Amino acid sequence: MAKISAPKGTRDFYPDEMRRRRYLEDVWRRVSLRAGFEEVDGPIFESLELYIQKAGEEIVTQLYNFEDKGGRPIAIRPEFTQSLARMVVARQAALPRPIKWFNISRCCRYERAQKGRLREFFQWNCDILGAEGPAADAECIAVAIDALQEFGLTKEQVEVRLSSRKLLSVMLAKLGLSDAAIPKVYLVLDKRGKVPADVIHHMINEIEMTEDQRKRVVDIMDMSSLDGLPSFFGDDPEVLEQLRELSQVVSLLGDDAAQFVRIDFGIVRGLAYYTGPVWEVFDKTGTLRSLCGGGRYDNLIAASGGKAMPACGFGAGDVTMGLLLDSLHAWPNDLTPRADFYVSCVQAASVSKVLPLVRRLRSLGRSAIHDLISSNIARQIKNADAMGVRYNVVIGSHKCSDDEVILGNMRTHEERTIRIQDLLKSVQDGTI
Ligand code: HAM
Repeated sequence: MAKISAPKGTRDFYPDEMRRRRYLEDVWRRVSLRAGFEEVDGPIFESLELYIQKAGEEIVTQLYNFEDKGGRPIAIRPEFTQSLARMVVARQAALPRPIKWFNISRCCRYERAQKGRLREFFQWNCDILGAEGPAADAECIAVAIDALQEFGLTKEQVEVRLSSRKLLSVMLAKLGLSDAAIPKVYLVLDKRGKVPADVIHHMINEIEMTEDQRKRVVDIMDMSSLDGLPSFFGDDPEVLEQLRELSQVVSLLGDDAAQFVRIDFGIVRGLAYYTGPVWEVFDKTGTLRSLCGGGRYDNLIAASGGKAMPACGFGAGDVTMGLLLDSLHAWPNDLTPRADFYVSCVQAASVSKVLPLVRRLRSLGRSAIHDLISSNIARQIKNADAMGVRYNVVIGSHKCSDDEVILGNMRTHEERTIRIQDLLKSVQDGTI
């Protein structure tokens, strides 16, 4: 029979890959919990309606959707945010505020599979609902930076590019851009860095606006700090208000975390629900697509049938983060499995003693493995060595009595005969 390959844009997780995935997830979980986020989850598939309600988004064209056997239109989740909104709305009155939830989910998007973008990936989400001030935006950015630092990444290697949808829309309106032109400008901004510069140039030229407006749009696109804005817009109160809000997000982060942040009006976020500050994390060499993206989405809960509720959050993917750690050789060294004990057996007559000892070691909370394929003792010791085992415990040696074993330290190569009872006691005391 022909071999069947995994579907395009998916990955198999053999033990090596699985260990790396677990490491990413462990960091995400640890960072979330210590910031007071609680873990939640929803189903891997939802009613198609949940996503198409907000039609017009790129994500709708990327859905994996089908009819189930009962004829219901279903979609596999492309992100967690819509499920989160549905879950919040279902119990909105009862949930204590602010809601701080995190989630690690498997998501599927029918995207063009390319470096950093697959059709199935894992995404870490942190969201805060019920808090409207910039403190919640700053908290989300701080948590994302915590994770970056926990992965050993520095401000020289990664950056948070911060913008504000509201500030941008106020600025574009002040420039006198038509309602039809503004979403097109967003689209160009969102594509910047993802498509070649000449395509961007062409896209800008296609938008209906005056030459002066076009020049100003390009100037805004190129700004890397908020300092230049007042000279652009004078003391326009609406611009100043939004500017103040965005500056506050940065100042609330404090000097240390703020060093990771750069203002970039090129960040608009492809998803339609964002309303305020928006941000993405990139590696500084600029070779990878975004590591993380998020922002404020104050209208989504009401749009999902709930009472209006401010919200902000972010999602970070495993694919680009994995590629970045690969390129920086930044995976921890100790991801390879290490068992504490390998219980080996010299003679067939003692085989029945192996598993009981293994089980007792395991019951003391230590990892213990043994031979399952009748290898000779030399092969067993070789296997133990290859698996990075710390202690080899030999049962059935002619040097031992019935209640004794040989304990070999695989690092120092020291060996001693020890009573099984004493071995277990030392393991329990933590001296072995
Ligand atoms: P997003 O920008 O679509 O935002 O995705 C967030 C992150 O998920 C990206 O930065 C990337 O690391 C990863 N990602 C997205 N699509 C793919 C893909 N096809 N392959 C690999 N990785 C991918 C959202 O999903 C928002 N729901 C995030 C959010 C949560 N906003 C507020 N709360």
